[in-house]
Amino acid sequence: MTTNPERVRIFDTTLRDGEQSPGAAMTLEEKIEIAEFLDEMGVDIIEAGFPISSAGDFAAVREITKIVKNATVCGLARAGFKDIDAAGEALKGAKRPRIHTFISTSPVHMKHKLQMGENAVLEAVGASVTRARNFTDDVQWSAEDATRTDADFLCKTVEVAIHSGAMVINVPDTVGYSTPQEYFEIITMLRNRVPNADKVIFSTHCHNDLGLAVANSLAGVLAGARQVECTINGIGERAGNAALEEIVMALKVRRDRMPFVNGINTTMLARASKLVSNVTGFPVQYNKAIVGKNAFSHDSGIHQDGMLKHVETYEIMRPEDVGVKETSLVLGKLSGRHAFRDKLEAMGYKLDDQSFADAFKRFKDLADKKKHVFDEDLVALVDDEIVRGHDLISVKDLRVETGTNILPGCELTLKIEGEDRRVKTTGDGPVDAIFKAIRELYPHSATLQLFQINAVTEGTDAQATVSVRLEENGRTVTGRGADTDTLVAAAYAYVNALNKLLVKREKQAPEALTVAR
Ligand code: KIV
Ligand code: ZN
Repeated sequence: MTTNPERVRIFDTTLRDGEQSPGAAMTLEEKIEIAEFLDEMGVDIIEAGFPISSAGDFAAVREITKIVKNATVCGLARAGFKDIDAAGEALKGAKRPRIHTFISTSPVHMKHKLQMGENAVLEAVGASVTRARNFTDDVQWSAEDATRTDADFLCKTVEVAIHSGAMVINVPDTVGYSTPQEYFEIITMLRNRVPNADKVIFSTHCHNDLGLAVANSLAGVLAGARQVECTINGIGERAGNAALEEIVMALKVRRDRMPFVNGINTTMLARASKLVSNVTGFPVQYNKAIVGKNAFSHDSGIHQDGMLKHVETYEIMRPEDVGVKETSLVLGKLSGRHAFRDKLEAMGYKLDDQSFADAFKRFKDLADKKKHVFDEDLVALVDDEIVRGHDLISVKDLRVETGTNILPGCELTLKIEGEDRRVKTTGDGPVDAIFKAIRELYPHSATLQLFQINAVTEGTDAQATVSVRLEENGRTVTGRGADTDTLVAAAYAYVNALNKLLVKREKQAPEALTVAR
């Protein structure tokens, strides 16, 4: 295989490693929506899931193969044949399928997690890659915990993987322990020492435990890696993975030091970030590079003065390069369907007829309540519509009574599988009363882990987006709701989380390895 040394492939694992963050579980519809967006944005490889881990992951990988137009679709598998066969089966319909198989190679993982010695691991590497090649030529092999692996043994495992037919060798810094210099040296060593290293693509996969994931990934690229694994907003296990938007913008802005190209349309980055944040309920920190709310705002007088004189005094990239636009007043209460549809299309939304009709009705209600409707309001409204569009349980009516000298209470009507059910409750506060009412109408054992409110725009009439995280039998889900009334948004968010719990997607607790053939 010939590789173009100038191109760096962007491998997105938001739907796999990203989804492994506690509370980031996504429904099938949400995964499909994100995959479509990533494909359109120009991601080269989408890791769509871990097919053996649950029926939900299997279905997600299979369905994503059907909608992706350009990207390679990848499924993860441990070294066991059952895992690999499940990945192969899930990827059957893909135009460009990739199986990504892995096993730990570090002494600590081999001893305590796998209880396997070096020879057994080497054998498993060969057998797993060979098995995966029965399904596709595009096989990627990862040495889990590569950065804490003995150098000679790492070289041996990579040699076996290449010899057995792997096309991509991924070098995970699984626990986020490495430093840029060290990671550079590991990739350089593998490229120099392993026979036939020039026949494969080396890939980075860096976790962010020390805040070095992006720096390490870029060091890997400088050492010759030509694939970077990353996630939108850097979500992922523990402190997360390298953030896609930071990698891509660093490569773009510092092309003078890193002369590589990739296929990402950077003007879609801000929306990708919002989409993933909305779906997972994980807010983006205000000062987050590239996509944080403050990434392009200049508050201090000195900076503002400099910016007015010449933008390059304090700006190394333009907000529009990443899709951040000036907040603009959009539509008013007299705007019709046509203008609403045009606006949504300009913002990149394609809604089916029913979702469009529902979103338009909600827009009219919003314009009645709120003087100024901004782009951000429409994004919150439409994303909320998409998130809740497939819910089995929905909020039909909510009345809340609260104040200083009364017991807070509410009257709530839910539509549950087509039937209206109503209840009156009181609570320690209005939110407590609403959540109690939901539990009475739809009894369940899930416990509340997080309740979080964010304002979409400024002002007391701003819409609120509320995130609610529920936990049941070790499974966590995050629901979301948006409304100008925070209490209504809270009810929407709780019910949305409950709906996600209802979607049966029980994940198998991942064991270390299933080498059983
Ligand atoms: O961090 C890691 O080692 C992984 C592997 C499965 C690639 O996510
Ligand atoms: Zn990982």
